[in-house]
Amino acid sequence: MISIEEARALMHDWVESASLRTHMECVAACMGWYAARVQADRQDDWIIAGLLHDMDYEKHPTIEEHPFVCVEFLKNRGDVPEDVVQAILSHADYSGSPRDTDMARHLFAVDELAGFITACSRVRPDGIVELETKSVRKKLKNLKFAAAVSRDDVAKGAEEIKLELADHITNCIDALRGERERLGI
Ligand SMILES: [Fe+2]
Ligand SMILES: [Fe+2]
Repeated sequence: MISIEEARALMHDWVESASLRTHMECVAACMGWYAARVQADRQDDWIIAGLLHDMDYEKHPTIEEHPFVCVEFLKNRGDVPEDVVQAILSHADYSGSPRDTDMARHLFAVDELAGFITACSRVRPDGIVELETKSVRKKLKNLKFAAAVSRDDVAKGAEEIKLELADHITNCIDALRGERERLGI
């Protein structure tokens, strides 16, 4: 089965954009954090789902193609666990595919929020070091800030993993802060 290092190399093959690479690393960091608490024996696979979930987005960004192109590719590889592929498929709400595993629900829940927290960090001189949950919540209410992030998806994601939004934000800050040097945030 595919390893974290192989998944990262594969993602680098498909994605040149530094910011998209960082996005996937951030989602993977949050996935690793949650996996350790929810399904520790599958932690590597949760991280791999994060590392690969948008791998086709640079070349195939439309809703007709993303994430269907990479789902097809990963299925054909044969070394990516089925539930990882399923989680990648269902992170796109419009795929209509059910999020029926903890891995899938968490991937959806951390996707938009990880991006949003990264955006919050970018406008601070010390990055994520002293970023607080309440400041993230405040920025979520400012619809002009990081306008591309769907507030509905952020709320829905927390609901699906049965956490209060504030707790989910705190967890993701924790996950990202723990790896901030590697992530460059
Ligand atoms: Fe995506
Ligand atoms: Fe994403």
